[in-house]
Amino acid sequence: MTVTETKPRIEVAGVQKRFGTVEALSDVSLTLNEGEVLGLVGDNGAGKSTLIKTLVGIHQPDAGEIRFDGEAVTIDGPKHARTLGVGTVYQDLALVDELSVAENLFLGRKPVRKLGGVLPVIDERTMAERAERILRERLDIELDPDTPVEYLSGGERQAIAIGRALVTDPDIVLLDEPTSALSKAAVERVEQLVQQLKASGHSVIIIDHNLEEVRSMTDRITVLFQGRTVDTLETAAVSRDDIVSMMVSGKPLGGPANNGADGQSSATQHSTSD
Ligand SMILES: Nc1ncnc2c1ncn2[C@@H]1O[C@H](COP(=O)(O)OP(=O)(O)OP(=O)(O)O)[C@@H](O)[C@H]1O
Ligand SMILES: [Mg+2]
Repeated sequence: MTVTETKPRIEVAGVQKRFGTVEALSDVSLTLNEGEVLGLVGDNGAGKSTLIKTLVGIHQPDAGEIRFDGEAVTIDGPKHARTLGVGTVYQDLALVDELSVAENLFLGRKPVRKLGGVLPVIDERTMAERAERILRERLDIELDPDTPVEYLSGGERQAIAIGRALVTDPDIVLLDEPTSALSKAAVERVEQLVQQLKASGHSVIIIDHNLEEVRSMTDRITVLFQGRTVDTLETAAVSRDDIVSMMVSGKPLGGPANNGADGQSSATQHSTSD
C-alpha cells in the first residue's frame, strides 16, 4: 500500500439511463475519490447532466450501480443526496425568481428553531445571516439577502446557485457548468472556491466546456461520449488536444473504443443533431 491511498466516495458502475428511445447513459463508470476534483467533459448531449441528476436521485438508473463510501445505494432524490453529504449546482440553476436571495439559498431546507423549546418555526434571522456569510466568505460577493433574484445578473444568480449547494455543508460537491455565465473575474472566484473546497478535504465533480478551466481545476478528468465513459485520466498526464480527441472520437488515447462497443452502437440519436 502506498502512503497516498485513495478512498472512493462515489463509485458509478455501468450505469444506464434511457428516456423513451433516447439512451442518455448507456454505460457510465467513474470513481470520485476523497479530496479530489474530478472533471467531467464531453460534447453536448454526452450525458453529463443526466449523470449528475442520477447521482442525486432526480433520475433512477435503469441498470448499473451507484455506491457511496463503498455501499450500493438507491438515492430517492436531492433531499436524500443531501443527507449523504452531497451539494449540487444544477446547470439550469433552478432558482425561483420571485423569492429573495436568502429564500433561494434555503429553498426547501430552512433552518428551524424550536419555539418555547417545542414548536418548530423557521428561523429567518439565522437564515439571512448564514446566507450573507456564505456569499461573502465563499464567493466574495456582497448581496442583500432580501433582494428578489429576478433583479440579479447572470453571474450573481450563478453565485447564489453555488451558495445554495453549500448551505448544508456538504463534503461532496457536484457542479454542473458553474462558470458558464461568468466573467473572467467571476470564473477566478469559482476556481478559488474549488481549490478551497479541495484544500478542506471536499470531493468535487465539475462539468465545464472550457477545457483550460477544467485542466487548471482538476486532478483527474473523465471523458463521456454518447452516454458512455471513454476513459478517466490524470489531468497532469493529458494535453488539451488529447481531451478533445477523446471527446470527438469516443476512443481512449492510443486504443480501441472502450466498454466493448464498436463505437457506433449508441450513436444513433446524436449523430446528426447539434
Ligand atoms: N428528462 C429528459 N427526457 C428526455 N431526454 C432527456 C432528458 N434529459 C436528458 N435527455 C437527453 O439525454 C441526452 C443527454 O443529455 P444531457 O443533458 O445529460 O447532456 P449533457 O452532456 O449535459 O449536454 P450539455 O453539455 O449540452 O449540457 C440528450 O440527448 C438529451 O436530450
Ligand atoms: Mg448538461
